[in-house]
Amino acid sequence: MNLSISLGNLWLKNPIIIASGVFSIDSAPYFPLPDIGAVITKTITPLPREGNPSPRLWETTGGLMNSIGLQNVGLKRFIDEELPRYLELSLPIIVSISGEKEDDFPQMAEKLKDKGVSGLELNLSCPNVERGGMHFGKDAEVVKRIVREVKRASSLWVMPKLTPQAPDIVETAQAGREGGADAVSLVNTFLAMALDIKTRSSRLGTLMGGLSGPAIKPIALRMVYEVAKAVRIPVVGCGGIMTAEDALEFIIAGASAVELGTVCLLNPSVPSEILKGIKEFLREEHIGDIRQLIGSLKTSNNG
Ligand code: FUM
Repeated sequence: MNLSISLGNLWLKNPIIIASGVFSIDSAPYFPLPDIGAVITKTITPLPREGNPSPRLWETTGGLMNSIGLQNVGLKRFIDEELPRYLELSLPIIVSISGEKEDDFPQMAEKLKDKGVSGLELNLSCPNVERGGMHFGKDAEVVKRIVREVKRASSLWVMPKLTPQAPDIVETAQAGREGGADAVSLVNTFLAMALDIKTRSSRLGTLMGGLSGPAIKPIALRMVYEVAKAVRIPVVGCGGIMTAEDALEFIIAGASAVELGTVCLLNPSVPSEILKGIKEFLREEHIGDIRQLIGSLKTSNNG
């Protein structure tokens, strides 16, 4: 049975990717690394960031809200101290990068281009920062420009991560492709609120946060379907995937691979369960190659 897939010129042994924000070099021992196709690092910015005030997490019905604020050690410490340890894991490492200015992206790509990473995910979708983040990702022209400049600055494989806050996510994905993206990932979290009625204030340290988890899965799935149908580069699906069945839904809708996020916070060994479930399904359905399943959705009965 073949489980390997390719995202442009990036080959993965299976379609399970750990999403940015739920894996760190210190949590690596808790993850079943042999069952994982690739890991995406927590987003790195040019300079260190302390992140947003606490509370930073709030559990909602069927979901999780976060407002971390891109806390990270900054690019220099990441390259000097963390990246060498990531590269020892013997699996593809995709570095998630972000910045407050458009120029930050190509400058970071330049510094990462010969460091042994497998590619870059451009975080154009974080809802928890005042500058950059989803403010870039809501504007298709900005998405195109940033991708184009990153491709000019390095020969690295590049995948912008898109925001569901964009007015038209298909247009944004298309802009990424026109800029030269090798793949697109979608979706990041949905901008959301949760309030404490007694204190009449936000449950988070910021007024709003990003909602992830099963609550967003049907909307993320619809967006993946629409983008995969319209845009001729591989799509990586993300948003509330908890089980093998969820992952298979995204693949059938058109995703070449899936990112597991929130579910890994509950259970870091879940990638093994999901991979096992995918294999069982393929066996039951007599499908020898997972690539046969990508975009295999039948729509003829649905108008
Ligand atoms: O707040 C955060 O660090 C979230 C990042 C993201 O959703 O990209």
